[in-house]
Amino acid sequence: MSFFEQFLESKLRNLYILQIFLGEFMKEILSEIGRLNHIAIAVPNIQKASSIWENALGANISSTQSLPEHGVKIVFIESPNTKVELLEPLNKQSPISKFLERNPNGGMHHMCYEVSNLENAIEKLIAAGVKILGDGIPKIGAHGNPVIFLNPGDFSGTLIELEEIKSN
Ligand code: CO
Repeated sequence: MSFFEQFLESKLRNLYILQIFLGEFMKEILSEIGRLNHIAIAVPNIQKASSIWENALGANISSTQSLPEHGVKIVFIESPNTKVELLEPLNKQSPISKFLERNPNGGMHHMCYEVSNLENAIEKLIAAGVKILGDGIPKIGAHGNPVIFLNPGDFSGTLIELEEIKSN
């Protein structure tokens, strides 16, 4: 092997190591939680619940949306740094119905953080011993993006949703 070939090979090896290092580094960055996307509150009556936010807190309320595939009616309450989603179950099979059986007046159901790469986040969660609810495979959430839910037992009794938001 000529000196030049040896030189080239060592450069390529360095480049390869750098690539692996950068890959791991990017994985670490891409699995960090981003902004708080929303806080979801389960309510027995969405009209009644949203009017108090509007009248007493001066909040901007969206129109009501029905999401049959998620078994909920939903209203968004926008604020400058995040939004609150009020969720009313559409039927008895809705997961929100079960929550309301235990909390008849409603209550905070979950909070949702954005991540830029859900696969990387899942890898990190599993390594940390966190249980992902269901089969652990991302589902399409209420906003059309892939989401997962984390075991509340791992987060002081709080249900956390992670939603993949592609930057740009
Ligand atoms: Co949510």
